[in-house]
Amino acid sequence: MDIPLSYRIYYGFLIREGMRADEAGRLEPSDLDLEHGAVVLDENKTDDPRAWALWEAPLGTPDVHVVFAAIAPDAERLAARIERALKAIGALPGLAAIWREDCHVLPSGQEPFGFMDGISQPAIEGSGIPGTNPDEPPLKAGEFLLGYPDELGGLPAMPTPEVLGRNGTYAVLRKVHQRVAALRQFLKASSVTPEEEEWLAAKMMGRRRSGAPLALCPAKDDPGLGADPTRNNAFLHRDDPKGYKTPPGSHIRRANPRDALGGGDTVRIHRVLRRRTTYGPPLPEGALEDDGADRGQVFLFIGAHLRRQFEFVQSVWINDSEFIGAGADRDPIASTGEGGGGFTIPRWPVRRRVQGLSRFVVTRGGEYCFMPGLRALRWLAALGT
Ligand code: HEM
Repeated sequence: MDIPLSYRIYYGFLIREGMRADEAGRLEPSDLDLEHGAVVLDENKTDDPRAWALWEAPLGTPDVHVVFAAIAPDAERLAARIERALKAIGALPGLAAIWREDCHVLPSGQEPFGFMDGISQPAIEGSGIPGTNPDEPPLKAGEFLLGYPDELGGLPAMPTPEVLGRNGTYAVLRKVHQRVAALRQFLKASSVTPEEEEWLAAKMMGRRRSGAPLALCPAKDDPGLGADPTRNNAFLHRDDPKGYKTPPGSHIRRANPRDALGGGDTVRIHRVLRRRTTYGPPLPEGALEDDGADRGQVFLFIGAHLRRQFEFVQSVWINDSEFIGAGADRDPIASTGEGGGGFTIPRWPVRRRVQGLSRFVVTRGGEYCFMPGLRALRWLAALGT
Protein backbone atom coordinates (compact mmCIF):
# COMPACT_ATOMS: atom_id res chain seq x y z
CA MET A 1 0.00 0.00 0.00
CA ASP A 2 1.26 3.45 -0.83
CA ILE A 3 1.99 5.88 1.96
CA PRO A 4 -0.99 8.16 2.58
CA LEU A 5 1.01 11.24 1.93
CA SER A 6 -0.27 14.42 0.46
CA TYR A 7 1.72 17.14 -1.16
CA ARG A 8 0.10 20.45 -1.67
CA ILE A 9 1.69 23.40 -3.27
CA TYR A 10 0.38 26.81 -2.44
CA TYR A 11 1.66 29.33 -4.89
CA GLY A 12 2.27 31.79 -2.18
CA PHE A 13 1.56 35.27 -1.19
CA LEU A 14 -1.24 36.46 -3.37
CA ILE A 15 -2.28 39.07 -0.88
CA ARG A 16 -5.39 40.34 -2.55
CA GLU A 17 -8.12 38.01 -3.65
CA GLY A 18 -8.08 37.83 -7.39
CA MET A 19 -4.57 39.14 -7.77
CA ARG A 20 -3.01 37.79 -10.93
CA ALA A 21 -0.14 35.38 -10.51
CA ASP A 22 2.26 37.69 -12.34
CA GLU A 23 1.32 40.63 -10.08
CA ALA A 24 2.12 38.68 -6.99
CA GLY A 25 5.78 38.59 -7.85
CA ARG A 26 5.91 42.38 -8.03
CA LEU A 27 4.71 43.25 -4.56
CA GLU A 28 6.49 46.01 -2.70
CA PRO A 29 6.85 46.01 1.08
CA SER A 30 4.36 48.89 1.16
CA ASP A 31 1.76 46.56 -0.30
CA LEU A 32 1.60 44.96 3.08
CA ASP A 33 -0.14 48.06 4.32
CA LEU A 34 -3.18 47.79 2.07
CA GLU A 35 -6.08 49.46 3.79
CA HIS A 36 -8.08 46.31 4.11
CA GLY A 37 -5.29 44.03 3.07
CA ALA A 38 -4.86 40.66 4.51
CA VAL A 39 -1.49 41.20 6.07
CA VAL A 40 -2.72 44.30 7.84
CA LEU A 41 -4.86 42.15 10.06
CA ASP A 42 -3.46 43.24 13.41
CA GLU A 43 -3.47 39.88 15.03
CA ASN A 44 -1.15 40.59 17.87
CA LYS A 45 -2.62 44.02 18.56
CA THR A 46 0.78 45.66 18.42
CA ASP A 47 1.36 49.20 17.25
CA ASP A 48 3.03 47.89 14.14
CA PRO A 49 0.60 45.63 12.29
CA ARG A 50 3.48 43.88 10.59
CA ALA A 51 5.44 43.20 13.73
CA TRP A 52 4.48 39.57 13.85
CA ALA A 53 5.77 39.00 10.36
CA LEU A 54 9.21 40.02 11.51
CA TRP A 55 9.34 37.50 14.32
CA GLU A 56 9.63 34.55 12.09
CA ALA A 57 11.10 35.72 8.83
CA PRO A 58 10.77 34.89 6.01
CA LEU A 59 7.09 34.31 6.79
CA GLY A 60 5.13 37.30 5.63
CA THR A 61 7.87 38.95 3.59
CA PRO A 62 6.75 40.11 0.15
CA ASP A 63 8.73 37.57 -1.87
CA VAL A 64 6.85 34.80 -3.60
CA HIS A 65 6.86 31.73 -1.39
CA VAL A 66 5.73 28.24 -2.16
CA VAL A 67 4.34 26.34 0.80
CA PHE A 68 4.90 22.64 0.60
CA ALA A 69 3.18 20.33 3.10
CA ALA A 70 4.03 16.66 3.50
CA ILE A 71 1.92 14.38 5.66
CA ALA A 72 2.84 10.81 6.58
CA PRO A 73 1.81 8.24 9.19
CA ASP A 74 5.17 8.23 10.98
CA ALA A 75 8.34 10.28 11.36
CA GLU A 76 10.52 7.89 9.35
CA ARG A 77 8.36 7.93 6.24
CA LEU A 78 7.88 11.67 6.58
CA ALA A 79 11.64 12.24 6.70
CA ALA A 80 12.15 10.10 3.60
CA ARG A 81 9.54 12.00 1.62
CA ILE A 82 10.83 15.39 2.74
CA GLU A 83 14.34 14.43 1.75
CA ARG A 84 13.07 13.45 -1.70
CA ALA A 85 11.19 16.72 -2.01
CA LEU A 86 14.19 18.78 -0.90
CA LYS A 87 16.31 17.10 -3.54
CA ALA A 88 13.73 17.95 -6.18
CA ILE A 89 13.50 21.56 -4.99
CA GLY A 90 17.28 21.87 -4.97
CA ALA A 91 17.38 20.81 -8.60
CA LEU A 92 15.06 23.62 -9.71
CA PRO A 93 16.60 26.94 -10.69
CA GLY A 94 15.48 29.94 -8.62
CA LEU A 95 14.01 27.90 -5.79
CA ALA A 96 15.53 27.45 -2.34
CA ALA A 97 14.13 25.92 0.83
CA ILE A 98 14.04 28.77 3.36
CA TRP A 99 11.78 27.75 6.25
CA ARG A 100 10.59 24.54 7.78
CA GLU A 101 8.28 23.58 10.61
CA ASP A 102 8.16 20.02 11.88
CA CYS A 103 4.67 19.19 13.07
CA HIS A 104 3.07 16.13 14.58
CA VAL A 105 -0.04 14.86 16.29
CA LEU A 106 0.40 14.83 20.07
CA PRO A 107 0.06 11.39 21.70
CA SER A 108 -3.22 12.53 23.27
CA GLY A 109 -4.59 13.59 19.87
CA GLN A 110 -5.44 16.93 21.49
CA GLU A 111 -4.22 20.40 20.70
CA PRO A 112 -1.63 21.87 23.14
CA PHE A 113 -4.24 23.31 25.57
CA GLY A 114 -5.66 19.81 25.89
CA PHE A 115 -8.86 20.00 23.79
CA MET A 116 -9.90 17.65 21.02
CA ASP A 117 -9.98 19.68 17.81
CA GLY A 118 -10.88 19.31 14.16
CA ILE A 119 -14.48 18.37 14.91
CA SER A 120 -16.62 21.01 13.22
CA GLN A 121 -16.31 21.65 9.48
CA PRO A 122 -18.79 23.17 7.05
CA ALA A 123 -20.19 20.93 4.31
CA ILE A 124 -19.80 21.88 0.64
CA GLU A 125 -22.74 21.48 -1.72
CA GLY A 126 -22.04 18.91 -4.41
CA SER A 127 -18.92 17.51 -2.75
CA GLY A 128 -20.70 14.37 -1.62
CA ILE A 129 -18.94 14.66 1.72
CA PRO A 130 -21.48 14.84 4.51
CA GLY A 131 -21.22 17.80 6.88
CA THR A 132 -20.36 17.39 10.53
CA ASN A 133 -23.50 19.28 11.57
CA PRO A 134 -26.72 17.78 10.16
CA ASP A 135 -28.48 21.04 11.11
CA GLU A 136 -26.27 23.17 8.86
CA PRO A 137 -27.24 22.92 5.17
CA PRO A 138 -24.19 22.55 2.90
CA LEU A 139 -22.65 25.80 1.70
CA LYS A 140 -22.44 26.76 -1.97
CA ALA A 141 -19.21 25.50 -3.53
CA GLY A 142 -18.17 29.09 -4.37
CA GLU A 143 -17.58 29.76 -0.67
CA PHE A 144 -14.57 27.47 -0.88
CA LEU A 145 -13.76 26.88 -4.53
CA LEU A 146 -12.97 29.39 -7.26
CA GLY A 147 -15.08 29.24 -10.39
CA TYR A 148 -18.42 28.38 -8.72
CA PRO A 149 -21.33 30.51 -7.42
CA ASP A 150 -21.11 31.42 -3.73
CA GLU A 151 -23.77 31.97 -1.06
CA LEU A 152 -24.50 35.48 -2.38
CA GLY A 153 -24.86 34.31 -5.97
CA GLY A 154 -21.55 35.85 -7.06
CA LEU A 155 -18.40 34.30 -8.44
CA PRO A 156 -15.34 34.80 -6.23
CA ALA A 157 -12.48 36.75 -7.81
CA MET A 158 -9.77 34.43 -9.02
CA PRO A 159 -6.30 34.53 -10.54
CA THR A 160 -6.08 34.40 -14.30
CA PRO A 161 -5.87 32.64 -16.68
CA GLU A 162 -8.91 30.52 -15.93
CA VAL A 163 -6.92 27.28 -16.00
CA LEU A 164 -4.87 28.60 -13.07
CA GLY A 165 -7.75 29.90 -10.97
CA ARG A 166 -10.62 27.47 -11.46
CA ASN A 167 -10.95 24.81 -8.77
CA GLY A 168 -8.32 26.58 -6.70
CA THR A 169 -8.87 28.41 -3.46
CA TYR A 170 -7.11 30.67 -0.96
CA ALA A 171 -5.50 29.52 2.24
CA VAL A 172 -4.18 31.43 5.23
CA LEU A 173 -1.25 29.72 6.89
CA ARG A 174 -0.70 30.67 10.52
CA LYS A 175 1.89 29.59 13.06
CA VAL A 176 0.37 30.30 16.47
CA HIS A 177 2.31 29.92 19.71
CA GLN A 178 0.25 28.75 22.69
CA ARG A 179 1.02 29.82 26.25
CA VAL A 180 -0.08 26.59 27.85
CA ALA A 181 1.33 27.33 31.33
CA ALA A 182 -0.42 30.72 31.38
CA LEU A 183 -3.78 29.09 30.60
CA ARG A 184 -3.27 26.47 33.31
CA GLN A 185 -2.32 29.15 35.83
CA PHE A 186 -5.38 31.19 34.94
CA LEU A 187 -7.73 28.22 35.31
CA LYS A 188 -6.19 27.33 38.67
CA ALA A 189 -6.27 30.89 40.01
CA SER A 190 -9.92 31.27 39.01
CA SER A 191 -11.13 27.97 40.51
CA VAL A 192 -11.34 26.31 43.88
CA THR A 193 -11.24 22.66 42.76
CA PRO A 194 -9.81 20.76 39.77
CA GLU A 195 -13.42 20.02 38.71
CA GLU A 196 -14.13 23.72 38.62
CA GLU A 197 -11.00 24.25 36.49
CA GLU A 198 -12.36 21.76 33.95
CA TRP A 199 -15.78 23.41 34.04
CA LEU A 200 -14.24 26.83 33.42
CA ALA A 201 -12.03 25.51 30.60
CA ALA A 202 -15.12 23.96 28.95
CA LYS A 203 -17.10 27.20 29.30
CA MET A 204 -14.25 29.15 27.67
CA MET A 205 -14.08 26.72 24.75
CA GLY A 206 -17.76 25.77 24.46
CA ARG A 207 -16.68 22.12 24.42
CA ARG A 208 -15.22 19.85 27.04
CA ARG A 209 -11.65 18.69 26.50
CA SER A 210 -13.08 15.37 25.28
CA GLY A 211 -14.66 17.27 22.38
CA ALA A 212 -18.17 16.86 23.81
CA PRO A 213 -20.11 20.10 23.19
CA LEU A 214 -21.62 21.85 26.21
CA ALA A 215 -24.74 22.28 24.08
CA LEU A 216 -25.33 18.51 24.31
CA CYS A 217 -23.82 17.71 27.72
CA PRO A 218 -24.16 20.83 29.85
CA ALA A 219 -24.13 19.05 33.21
CA LYS A 220 -21.27 16.59 32.86
CA ASP A 221 -18.67 15.33 30.44
CA ASP A 222 -19.59 12.58 28.01
CA PRO A 223 -16.36 11.33 26.34
CA GLY A 224 -18.37 8.86 24.21
CA LEU A 225 -20.27 11.82 22.74
CA GLY A 226 -17.03 13.74 22.21
CA ALA A 227 -15.55 10.87 20.19
CA ASP A 228 -18.68 10.20 18.11
CA PRO A 229 -18.52 12.10 14.81
CA THR A 230 -22.20 11.45 14.15
CA ARG A 231 -23.22 13.33 17.32
CA ASN A 232 -20.42 15.61 18.50
CA ASN A 233 -21.35 18.48 16.21
CA ALA A 234 -25.09 17.94 15.85
CA PHE A 235 -26.44 21.04 17.55
CA LEU A 236 -27.68 24.61 17.23
CA HIS A 237 -28.13 27.22 19.95
CA ARG A 238 -31.83 27.97 19.49
CA ASP A 239 -32.70 26.28 22.78
CA ASP A 240 -29.99 28.30 24.53
CA PRO A 241 -30.47 31.97 23.57
CA LYS A 242 -28.89 33.30 26.76
CA GLY A 243 -25.94 30.93 26.66
CA TYR A 244 -26.64 29.02 29.86
CA LYS A 245 -25.12 25.98 28.18
CA THR A 246 -22.68 27.47 25.66
CA PRO A 247 -21.64 31.01 26.62
CA PRO A 248 -21.96 33.49 23.73
CA GLY A 249 -18.35 34.52 24.49
CA SER A 250 -16.93 30.98 24.27
CA HIS A 251 -14.51 30.18 21.44
CA ILE A 252 -16.74 27.90 19.40
CA ARG A 253 -19.86 30.07 19.71
CA ARG A 254 -17.87 33.11 18.61
CA ALA A 255 -16.09 31.33 15.75
CA ASN A 256 -19.38 29.86 14.50
CA PRO A 257 -22.47 31.32 16.16
CA ARG A 258 -24.65 28.85 14.19
CA ASP A 259 -28.26 30.11 14.55
CA ALA A 260 -27.51 32.40 17.52
CA LEU A 261 -27.35 35.58 15.42
CA GLY A 262 -30.66 35.03 13.67
CA GLY A 263 -29.60 32.68 10.88
CA GLY A 264 -29.38 33.38 7.13
CA ASP A 265 -26.29 34.91 5.54
CA THR A 266 -25.25 36.49 8.83
CA VAL A 267 -23.27 33.39 9.65
CA ARG A 268 -23.10 31.43 6.40
CA ILE A 269 -20.88 33.94 4.61
CA HIS A 270 -18.31 33.78 7.43
CA ARG A 271 -17.62 30.05 7.53
CA VAL A 272 -14.07 28.74 7.20
CA LEU A 273 -12.58 25.35 6.47
CA ARG A 274 -9.87 24.61 9.02
CA ARG A 275 -6.92 22.27 9.04
CA ARG A 276 -4.45 22.26 11.90
CA THR A 277 -1.53 20.39 13.32
CA THR A 278 0.68 20.75 16.38
CA TYR A 279 4.31 21.78 16.74
CA GLY A 280 6.67 21.70 19.73
CA PRO A 281 6.75 19.33 22.71
CA PRO A 282 3.69 19.03 24.95
CA LEU A 283 4.00 20.81 28.32
CA PRO A 284 4.24 17.95 30.86
CA GLU A 285 0.93 17.13 32.53
CA GLY A 286 0.28 19.29 35.58
CA ALA A 287 3.23 21.66 34.97
CA LEU A 288 2.29 25.22 35.84
CA GLU A 289 5.55 26.93 34.96
CA ASP A 290 6.51 27.74 31.40
CA ASP A 291 9.54 25.70 30.31
CA GLY A 292 10.48 28.13 27.56
CA ALA A 293 9.72 25.68 24.73
CA ASP A 294 7.95 26.98 21.65
CA ARG A 295 4.72 25.04 21.18
CA GLY A 296 1.46 25.66 19.43
CA GLN A 297 -0.31 24.94 16.19
CA VAL A 298 0.09 25.51 12.51
CA PHE A 299 -3.28 26.32 10.96
CA LEU A 300 -4.67 26.50 7.47
CA PHE A 301 -7.85 28.55 7.15
CA ILE A 302 -9.29 27.91 3.72
CA GLY A 303 -11.91 29.79 1.70
CA ALA A 304 -12.65 31.69 -1.50
CA HIS A 305 -13.39 34.95 0.36
CA LEU A 306 -10.69 35.27 2.99
CA ARG A 307 -11.69 38.80 3.90
CA ARG A 308 -15.23 37.98 4.91
CA GLN A 309 -14.31 34.52 6.14
CA PHE A 310 -11.00 34.11 8.07
CA GLU A 311 -10.29 37.81 8.52
CA PHE A 312 -13.81 38.62 9.65
CA VAL A 313 -13.91 35.75 12.12
CA GLN A 314 -10.50 36.69 13.51
CA SER A 315 -11.02 40.44 13.78
CA VAL A 316 -14.74 40.71 14.60
CA TRP A 317 -15.96 37.52 16.21
CA ILE A 318 -12.72 36.59 18.01
CA ASN A 319 -11.09 39.94 18.77
CA ASP A 320 -14.23 42.05 19.29
CA SER A 321 -17.49 41.68 21.17
CA GLU A 322 -19.96 44.26 19.84
CA PHE A 323 -21.92 41.53 18.11
CA ILE A 324 -22.73 39.78 21.39
CA GLY A 325 -22.96 42.94 23.48
CA ALA A 326 -20.01 41.89 25.62
CA GLY A 327 -18.16 45.22 25.80
CA ALA A 328 -14.39 44.94 25.68
CA ASP A 329 -14.28 41.16 26.14
CA ARG A 330 -12.53 39.03 23.55
CA ASP A 331 -12.33 35.34 22.75
CA PRO A 332 -11.05 33.81 26.00
CA ILE A 333 -8.96 31.17 24.16
CA ALA A 334 -7.95 32.46 20.74
CA SER A 335 -7.85 36.24 21.07
CA THR A 336 -4.50 37.62 20.09
CA GLY A 337 -5.05 40.91 21.93
CA GLU A 338 -3.32 42.00 25.12
CA GLY A 339 -4.51 40.22 28.23
CA GLY A 340 -6.50 41.62 31.12
CA GLY A 341 -9.97 41.03 29.68
CA GLY A 342 -12.94 39.34 31.26
CA PHE A 343 -15.32 36.54 30.35
CA THR A 344 -18.96 36.12 31.28
CA ILE A 345 -20.59 32.78 31.98
CA PRO A 346 -24.38 33.16 31.92
CA ARG A 347 -25.93 31.33 34.87
CA TRP A 348 -29.25 31.47 36.67
CA PRO A 349 -29.91 33.30 38.91
CA VAL A 350 -26.50 35.02 38.89
CA ARG A 351 -23.97 35.06 36.07
CA ARG A 352 -20.30 34.27 36.77
CA ARG A 353 -17.76 36.82 35.63
CA VAL A 354 -14.06 35.90 35.47
CA GLN A 355 -11.45 38.61 35.17
CA GLY A 356 -7.76 38.82 34.39
CA LEU A 357 -7.54 36.68 31.28
CA SER A 358 -4.05 36.73 29.94
CA ARG A 359 -3.11 36.45 26.27
CA PHE A 360 -2.94 32.73 25.69
CA VAL A 361 -1.96 32.71 21.99
CA VAL A 362 0.55 34.69 19.95
CA THR A 363 0.69 34.67 16.15
CA ARG A 364 4.27 33.95 15.14
CA GLY A 365 3.80 34.42 11.46
CA GLY A 366 1.94 33.34 8.38
CA GLU A 367 1.31 33.56 4.70
CA TYR A 368 -1.62 34.23 2.40
CA CYS A 369 -1.61 31.61 -0.28
CA PHE A 370 -3.34 30.61 -3.44
CA MET A 371 -3.92 26.87 -3.55
CA PRO A 372 -4.26 25.69 -7.15
CA GLY A 373 -6.42 22.78 -8.24
CA LEU A 374 -4.92 19.68 -9.84
CA ARG A 375 -5.49 20.88 -13.41
CA ALA A 376 -3.73 24.16 -12.56
CA LEU A 377 -0.82 22.28 -11.02
CA ARG A 378 -0.40 20.31 -14.22
CA TRP A 379 -0.59 23.54 -16.21
CA LEU A 380 2.01 25.18 -13.95
CA ALA A 381 4.26 22.13 -14.22
CA ALA A 382 4.12 22.26 -18.00
CA LEU A 383 5.02 25.98 -18.19
CA GLY A 384 8.37 26.70 -19.71
CA THR A 385 8.90 23.18 -20.95
C1 HEM B 1 -4.37 28.67 19.15
C2 HEM B 1 -5.54 29.19 18.88
C3 HEM B 1 -6.76 28.31 18.75
C4 HEM B 1 -7.11 27.19 19.44
C5 HEM B 1 -6.35 26.53 20.59
C6 HEM B 1 -8.36 26.71 18.89
C7 HEM B 1 -9.01 25.58 19.32
C8 HEM B 1 -10.24 25.15 18.87
C9 HEM B 1 -10.96 24.00 19.35
C10 HEM B 1 -10.45 23.04 20.43
C11 HEM B 1 -12.12 23.94 18.69
C12 HEM B 1 -13.24 22.91 18.92
C13 HEM B 1 -13.19 21.77 17.96
C14 HEM B 1 -14.08 21.94 16.76
O1 HEM B 1 -15.18 22.46 16.87
O2 HEM B 1 -13.63 21.54 15.66
C15 HEM B 1 -12.15 25.05 17.76
C16 HEM B 1 -13.18 25.32 16.89
C17 HEM B 1 -13.13 26.33 15.96
N1 HEM B 1 -12.16 27.28 15.81
FE1 HEM B 1 -10.50 27.47 16.90
N2 HEM B 1 -8.76 27.56 17.90
C18 HEM B 1 -7.81 28.55 17.77
C19 HEM B 1 -7.81 29.62 16.89
C20 HEM B 1 -8.79 29.84 15.97
C21 HEM B 1 -8.78 30.92 15.02
C22 HEM B 1 -7.69 31.97 14.89
C23 HEM B 1 -9.92 30.78 14.28
C24 HEM B 1 -10.42 31.59 13.11
C25 HEM B 1 -10.07 32.78 12.79
C26 HEM B 1 -10.63 29.62 14.77
C27 HEM B 1 -11.81 29.16 14.25
C28 HEM B 1 -12.49 28.08 14.75
C29 HEM B 1 -13.75 27.61 14.18
C30 HEM B 1 -14.48 28.20 12.98
C31 HEM B 1 -14.14 26.52 14.95
C32 HEM B 1 -15.39 25.67 14.76
C33 HEM B 1 -16.51 26.27 15.56
C34 HEM B 1 -17.78 25.48 15.37
O3 HEM B 1 -18.15 25.23 14.23
O4 HEM B 1 -18.39 25.13 16.38
N3 HEM B 1 -9.92 29.09 15.80
N4 HEM B 1 -11.00 25.77 17.90
